[in-house]
Amino acid sequence: MKERLEALKAEATREIEGAGALEKLESIRVKYFGKKGEMTAILRGMGKLSKEERPLMGAMSNAIREELEKLLTEKQEALKAKGMDEKMEGEYLDVTLSRDIIRTGHRHPLLQTKEELEDLFVEMGFQVVDGPEIDTVANNFDHLNSPANHPTRDLTDTFYISPEHLLRTHTSTMQIRAMKEYGAPLRIVSSGRVFRYDEVDDTHSPMFHQFEGLVVGKGITLANLIGSLNIFIKEFFGEDLEIRYRPHYFPFTEPSTEIDVTCPVCGGEGCATCNFTGWSMELLGAGVVHPNVLRNCGIDPEVYSGFAFGMGIDRIAMVKYGIKNIRLMFENDARFLRQF
Ligand code: PHE
Repeated sequence: MKERLEALKAEATREIEGAGALEKLESIRVKYFGKKGEMTAILRGMGKLSKEERPLMGAMSNAIREELEKLLTEKQEALKAKGMDEKMEGEYLDVTLSRDIIRTGHRHPLLQTKEELEDLFVEMGFQVVDGPEIDTVANNFDHLNSPANHPTRDLTDTFYISPEHLLRTHTSTMQIRAMKEYGAPLRIVSSGRVFRYDEVDDTHSPMFHQFEGLVVGKGITLANLIGSLNIFIKEFFGEDLEIRYRPHYFPFTEPSTEIDVTCPVCGGEGCATCNFTGWSMELLGAGVVHPNVLRNCGIDPEVYSGFAFGMGIDRIAMVKYGIKNIRLMFENDARFLRQF
């Protein structure tokens, strides 16, 4: 019996030490200490031993059992710890990795510019109104005092849908719509797409965006126009630029002006962007509302007067952000848009 016990101890020790997983360890425990286990069988055979042998063998087998159980527990702990290490290794989380992997979108620079413009004018007491991109020839030209022989009415300049309807060539259609709907006095801004038969180049596109404003009230003069637009321009572009009002012609305003600001790239010194003029490309058209236009909308020009202005949102954004090519605004290249 002594030899059997010693052989069992050696065998079991070897097996326990060689066990690589907890499941293996459990099967070893069952093999020796389970109901049908080898150690259990030996202990059961104890009854057949002589009186002298029994306590000796009993003590020996107890010692071996204790030793093996201790080994088993130790090994179990070791395997558990190893399993935890492996788990930690496998589920390792690098907290220094950039988490900026999911990019969220944001508003297009044109929409941002439009909303900024709206906010500024709403603060000045203007109401925001909206209107259609397809409008009548009357709203686009006739009511705006644009004579039948005006060049912008030409088929090569304007997209006609029918003899009476067209894709609006400017947002000035909204002057007519607003005056007809609300009458005087009023202060509105309106923006949206406009369409012209233009070749695409760095500053032109057959579709672009305009932002229109109209004030009608008693005693409104050119001075109100200049005062309001100066406030707007300085607020939008910054205090230190200069503003230039150039005389111009629009059929629906008299007098009329075009407005430039200091080239934001060179600050007025002259550079390639401003063609060495020191001035931005023209940003706004404006003027005192022509009495005929008021009359066409049922407003008495002897009582009321007004001023109107229109600007290209695309160009405003280009000047503000130093973008040289209008195409970038419509190509929707994510690498470009991400910068805003
Ligand atoms: N509608 C003009 C244009 O498109 C701009 C303008 C608007 C001028 C209002 C005067 C008053 O060029």
